[in-house]
Amino acid sequence: MITRRTALRAGIASASVLGTAGLLLPAVNAAANEGDTGGGAAEPDLDPAAIPKFAQRMPLPPVLSPYLVTATTSYYSMTMKEAAKEILPGRSTTVRTFNGSFPGPVVKAETGRRVVVRQTNTLAHPTSVHLHGAHVPPDSDGSPMDLIAANGGTKTYTYPNTQPHANLWFHDHAHHLESENVFRGLTATYLLTDDTERRLNLPSGTYDVPVQLRDARFAESGALVYEMHDIFNRNVVLANGKPWPYFEVAARKYRFRIVNAANMRFFELRLADGSEIIQIGSDGGLLPAPHRTASVPVSPGERADIVIDFSRYPVGSTIELKNVSTAAPGPVELIGRVLQFRVTRSAADSSVVPAVLRTLPALPAVTGQRSIELRMDETGSPNDLAYLDGKVYDMNRIDQEIAYGASEIWTVTNANQLAPHNFHMHLVQFRVLERNGRPVTSGPESGLKDTVSLLPGETVKLQATFTGYRGTYVYHCHIFDHGAMGMMANMRIS
Ligand code: C2O
Ligand code: CU
Ligand code: CU
Repeated sequence: MITRRTALRAGIASASVLGTAGLLLPAVNAAANEGDTGGGAAEPDLDPAAIPKFAQRMPLPPVLSPYLVTATTSYYSMTMKEAAKEILPGRSTTVRTFNGSFPGPVVKAETGRRVVVRQTNTLAHPTSVHLHGAHVPPDSDGSPMDLIAANGGTKTYTYPNTQPHANLWFHDHAHHLESENVFRGLTATYLLTDDTERRLNLPSGTYDVPVQLRDARFAESGALVYEMHDIFNRNVVLANGKPWPYFEVAARKYRFRIVNAANMRFFELRLADGSEIIQIGSDGGLLPAPHRTASVPVSPGERADIVIDFSRYPVGSTIELKNVSTAAPGPVELIGRVLQFRVTRSAADSSVVPAVLRTLPALPAVTGQRSIELRMDETGSPNDLAYLDGKVYDMNRIDQEIAYGASEIWTVTNANQLAPHNFHMHLVQFRVLERNGRPVTSGPESGLKDTVSLLPGETVKLQATFTGYRGTYVYHCHIFDHGAMGMMANMRIS
């Protein structure tokens, strides 16, 4: 139950919240409810309030099997294709998928073993498959310009897996198409493990659960309704492709590998009783030490690796996982809810969350500094643009020249008063040194990161070290629509 107090704490007073939120964005189309940018007959929206809450089980994405395994390499093949799925009870939704799964399948990889994925694109739109957070050569990065042709194009990506364990994810990155492709389903999970992680006795097997979170908007028919910049109408929360599902658990510890796969939606996860969530990892693997907290913020693209101990609840209890983020607007009775845990049985539990999870390598000596500014027009005009360092993305312009081997401090600022952004770099896992002038020495940002949230006016200092590969990679705001509006740039490492 959402009490008024909870609602106020969330900074969201009622369903008519939009006042709090000149926030996310300007180019909100007033006629948004009429839907359909494709020019077809406009169809009314499905009222999200009419979707039963906690009525469907949260599914687990299938684990993909390699078609060939050699001494050094596992070979996979994936096909991007449309599929009809029952997301909403009794309705069919056409989605864009990897291998017909919504969300896509899980690839399990190990540090030191190469993964090769042959992608075939049978969709009617070009795609580019990016493995978010991966340290890979430029021709396997899935950059915005490196397209796989529509209607049957193929490309083979090679992932060397030379980095430590990390929770990575696949998503489309075709410039100006990624926002819609991702909204319509082109995401999948990639879990990279190594000895550091394996030698810990964290919850594993069926107690280790990948969860992709996102929001969505549907028409009465069940069709997904996509519009640029449509944060105000995406009021259905999906966990592993189902709206507000439930998940049955035993009264013991579980590990959840959360990915925020939403285009624009910031989540901040909290158990309804405010009890402890142990954050053990972030984007680039485990934190140095567990972070015990009541809430876990995850901006678009970020990952949170968390442990919840259900042994404190009697069998028969239900516990809701809520979203209390105030960074993105939405009716609290919809957007404020995520999923429901049902404690259905007891179970033995020999897993442990140790006081020390990993040791991060020492930071190299700093060789240079740069400042980066994220800013977008906030006039509300449909022609609003979004800028990195005052410039709109040009795929043919190199914005930062970086010497191979450099270790640099980047000071990244969100210069907007209203719009939240975040900052993602390809190629590297960086370290967050400071947030708003305060050193980051523990907590959720003390591990390896590839994406950091930047609420209006915030500044983050990070240190990135450019080794491994030479070439051109992008960095950008991970609100896909902001990237498409221009908030993206190229760095060349040479
Ligand atoms: Cu997850 Cu350039 O992106
Ligand atoms: Cu990325
Ligand atoms: Cu942004």
